[in-house]
Amino acid sequence: MDWRTRGSVRTQRRHWGRAVALWDNHGVAGLERIIGAVLAAAREDGPSGLVVDVGTGTGALALPLASNARKVVAVDVSAGMLERLGEHAASAGVGNIETVLSPVEELTFAPGSVDLIVSNYVLHHLIDREKRRFVDNAAVWLRPGGRLIIGDMMVGRGTTPEDRAILGSKVRVMMRRGPAGWWRIAKNAWRLMTRTRERPIPLQAWREMLTAAGFVDVTAERVVAEAGLVIGRVPRAAG
Ligand SMILES: C[S@@+](CC[C@H](N)C(=O)[O-])C[C@H]1O[C@@H](n2cnc3c(N)ncnc32)[C@H](O)[C@@H]1O
Repeated sequence: MDWRTRGSVRTQRRHWGRAVALWDNHGVAGLERIIGAVLAAAREDGPSGLVVDVGTGTGALALPLASNARKVVAVDVSAGMLERLGEHAASAGVGNIETVLSPVEELTFAPGSVDLIVSNYVLHHLIDREKRRFVDNAAVWLRPGGRLIIGDMMVGRGTTPEDRAILGSKVRVMMRRGPAGWWRIAKNAWRLMTRTRERPIPLQAWREMLTAAGFVDVTAERVVAEAGLVIGRVPRAAG
């Protein structure tokens, strides 16, 4: 990792360190729906051995998944998020979550050692090359038959009718909030256009990325507004 990326990790830590309380109590119905969709998909294969939650935050996925796994490795770039997750785990008596303070860009696991990788509302912060590298790595870390499940903001920059419908509906919701909403429209439009921190790509681009990495049974569906769910499985060993 070079000095530019290191600088950006420091920025990410500062940004997310300030967002712990906000994120822990977000109360946003749309987010609850995508979290629910990731959890439902994760449970489809029954109990898991090793689960990795990338960008775990305060544990919206890691905590419920721990009851159905041997171990959950909860990874985040923010120490504050992981501390809060530790408090939640302790008060719920959950003892099989290991927290790892690391940017996803520096993550490594032994080939074939992971049963399930999940991530919610994290990967759109990565530049596209790092998204691709993460998906390629995930295909190596997962055992044959293991799955990658990604929930995230999945929308392009307004070049397709679908993008325009999604972005238009978000603008209409925020417009109704008055000046605070107008400020958010301006801020988010700027970030999307300049790809500063917000770097989402469309559902179809995720589907193609997983397929190119060798995942099979790849599905991509829109869950609510801009939030999509993409799932792929590492081919099972022949014979
Ligand atoms: C929007 S929150 C989502 C948290 C959680 N997945 C959830 O659904 O509640 C994004 C999380 O990703 C983490 N994050 C952002 N960029 C990251 C990176 N490059 N590597 C690891 N974690 C990252 C942030 O610290 C934050 O906890």
